[in-house]
Amino acid sequence: MTSTHTPMVLDDDFVQDPFTVYRLLRIEAPVREVVMPRGLKVWLVTRYADARDALSHPAVRKDLRPVRHLFDKHHTGTSTGGFGADLSAHMLNSDPPDHTRLRRLVARAFTMRRVELLRPRVEEITENLLDGLSGEVDLTDAFAFPLPVTVICELLGVPQADQDDFRGWTTKLVTARSAQSVGEAGQAMSVYLHGLIDTKRANPADDLLSALVQAEEDGEKLNAVELVSMAFLLLVAGHETTVNLISNGVLALLRAPDQLAALRADPALLPGAVEELLRFGSPVNHTTMRYTAEPVEIGGTTIPEDEFVVVALGSANRDDDRFGDPDTLDVTRSAAGHLSFGHGIHFCLGAPLARLEGQIAIGRLVERFPDLALASDDLRWRNSTLLRGLEELPVRLEGHT
Ligand code: HEM
Repeated sequence: MTSTHTPMVLDDDFVQDPFTVYRLLRIEAPVREVVMPRGLKVWLVTRYADARDALSHPAVRKDLRPVRHLFDKHHTGTSTGGFGADLSAHMLNSDPPDHTRLRRLVARAFTMRRVELLRPRVEEITENLLDGLSGEVDLTDAFAFPLPVTVICELLGVPQADQDDFRGWTTKLVTARSAQSVGEAGQAMSVYLHGLIDTKRANPADDLLSALVQAEEDGEKLNAVELVSMAFLLLVAGHETTVNLISNGVLALLRAPDQLAALRADPALLPGAVEELLRFGSPVNHTTMRYTAEPVEIGGTTIPEDEFVVVALGSANRDDDRFGDPDTLDVTRSAAGHLSFGHGIHFCLGAPLARLEGQIAIGRLVERFPDLALASDDLRWRNSTLLRGLEELPVRLEGHT
């Protein structure tokens, strides 16, 4: 039993295994105050139906500026919501009408039709990376990371030589415990992006960042701070998450050999299997921070005004009111309706791209390496409550085709 009167403290054990805590909370206290590992007290929503309600409630807001002082007072690190103003003015931190305007500027680049045009290039990058794999490797480092980072950098127009720097900065942003290291990584990224934008301004190219610079120059649509923030959001949201889809997905399949065999036997299962891997692995464990602009009732509990709210997507995806036998991976089930891409107006803009990358990466990996196996079972999850990703995924690859 958990007492619901004092906030529950989510510690490092929770990061390693959130599902045990989620199960308990869904039963005993599905909308409950908890203290996040970096010290912020939030209301955590763990049931599927409540999660959807919270994510679509108009008084549960994303623009944290009105409650900034409360956030800064209690929070020692940051999520993508907690940077200085020059990286934070993006759609994921905005409410309508700003959100609508900012999202509309880039929505066309991420429609299913536009993303489908990227397929040959995603396939080419995938095959090149797979060609280089043999023996024992960290699959996260050698495959799951370089694929999405290359794709999103090419889409935006970030030179290849600079792509490695992103891993360093985003790892720091996601896992750092001190405000100082977060500040340093944010600062490095901000300086870099300002320089890159100046380059695009002087020499526009056929890429998304040049198109956004044009939108800023046209005035009205995008100001200078929003431009840097948009570039930052797309770069960060576009790769850390997809890395986790690939790594968590491969791990789940290796731990359920019957499911891996079923997928290999019938590649037509792939699109559905990726949805199930998204549900099961929940690459984004929680949504980003929200707060109540007025008292809000969720699942019979009233959350007072000016309180922080976090929706546990990883928990909603394992709610047995919505998915039968939720802790079992089943690549033949219909996982449609999972919340791994969120819900409501902030539903993941990059979902079509993430699905394309996930299907190509996982499909080709398991096809080309019939003997793919875990090289160690001693795995650790990265120190983040926002994202659920492995520190390393050591695998053995033989039988290259
Ligand atoms: C928003 C998950 C890949 C761009 C979100 C949200 C989730 C999510 C849960 C909503 C967060 C919230 O409401 O607090 C994922 C997962 C991915 C993925 C699991 C990979 C498997 C991508 C990619 C892009 C992208 C490839 C490409 C640029 C965005 C953007 C938003 C967003 C721009 C903000 C949308 C808005 O505020 O309207 N994503 N994402 N994501 N995602 Fe993704």
